Amino acid sequence: MMQNIAIIGSGVMGRGIAQSFAVGGYSVTINDIKTAFLEKARQNIEDNLSLMVEAGQLTNDQKKEAASRISYSIDQKDSVSDADLIIEAIPEDINMKWNLYQNLEQIKKPEAVVSSNTSTFPISKLTEKTSFDGRFIITHFFNPAHLVPLVEIVKKDETDPEVADEVINLLKQIGKSPILLKKEINGFIANRLQTALVREAFSLVDKGIASAEDVDKAITDGPGFRWAFVGPIRTAEFGGLDTWKHVIDNIAPELDKSEGAPEIINRLVAEGKLGTKTGEGLFTYSGNEVQEALNQRDRQFVQLGQIKQSARLEPASEN
Ligand SMILES: NC(=O)c1ccc[n+]([C@@H]2O[C@H](COP(=O)([O-])OP(=O)(O)OC[C@H]3O[C@@H](n4cnc5c(N)ncnc54)[C@H](O)[C@@H]3O)[C@@H](O)[C@H]2O)c1
Repeated sequence: MMQNIAIIGSGVMGRGIAQSFAVGGYSVTINDIKTAFLEKARQNIEDNLSLMVEAGQLTNDQKKEAASRISYSIDQKDSVSDADLIIEAIPEDINMKWNLYQNLEQIKKPEAVVSSNTSTFPISKLTEKTSFDGRFIITHFFNPAHLVPLVEIVKKDETDPEVADEVINLLKQIGKSPILLKKEINGFIANRLQTALVREAFSLVDKGIASAEDVDKAITDGPGFRWAFVGPIRTAEFGGLDTWKHVIDNIAPELDKSEGAPEIINRLVAEGKLGTKTGEGLFTYSGNEVQEALNQRDRQFVQLGQIKQSARLEPASEN
């Protein structure tokens, strides 16, 4: 049974993944290369736990217990020596990942499972220099990882069948919603779907069809409102596949088909307009606005999580 979790990398994703396991009752050690990075992660987790208390998701005692289950260390050997599951969340650089895995092979318990939070690398590439004897898997979390339920799981033919089952059960234990891919594919599932949509969203603004604000609203108050409960395939089936055949036949030929990012994103990046990072993208952000927007987003995600949770618990009404 998996009890001790080690997270390698305390950045945007590692800290959120660590928080999810700690709130779920597991002991977690977070490892990074500098104490200052770990201190930043500790502060961020503290703030996020406080926000969950504020939203009524956790009591003050539960917050303290969760925080006390997390330890922080720059000593990698110490961090993984007891770990049953080691989740790698270091930057998306294949050489960095390979070097780390080679080190982990030397220092981890033989039975420990290693997983990667990679957004883009196929599992066969990740394991080119290490095998981990069938105990390697991809666990792809979504930002903010302490609030978004989805985790995409990718295994290799060589992965022990019980490893995927064990990891999936563990993720369900902490309230996550894992899905297992049947085959490797670039971008997995959710990022392929998002990419198709985001490319078209920016392209619509570039063509002058609507403002960025209204393009966003077209999703948050339209399809996005449905998608929290009814996915695109079921939505199409509710609408009728004959109707959707016409919709796709009529619209698909006119969609943006850029091979890379649409022109408008290339222009913004060339101008140094990277979004919240630089205070400007299609929207502008000044002063405290970024932090306020992130806090508001997280409060809304907590509420959505609560609604989804209670909807799952309520018995379906009978006619
Ligand atoms: N940011 C996202 O939205 C997102 C979403 C899903 C998946 N991912 C993937 O998750 C992984 C991590 O992304 P991130 O955004 O958290 O990156 P990040 O840059 O925010 O954090 C990475 C952390 O890893 C640390 N690190 C680097 N080398 C290390 C080593 N050898 N040992 C220990 N720590 C080390 C860094 O110091 C840094 O703190 C990447 O593979 C990324 O593609 C990111």
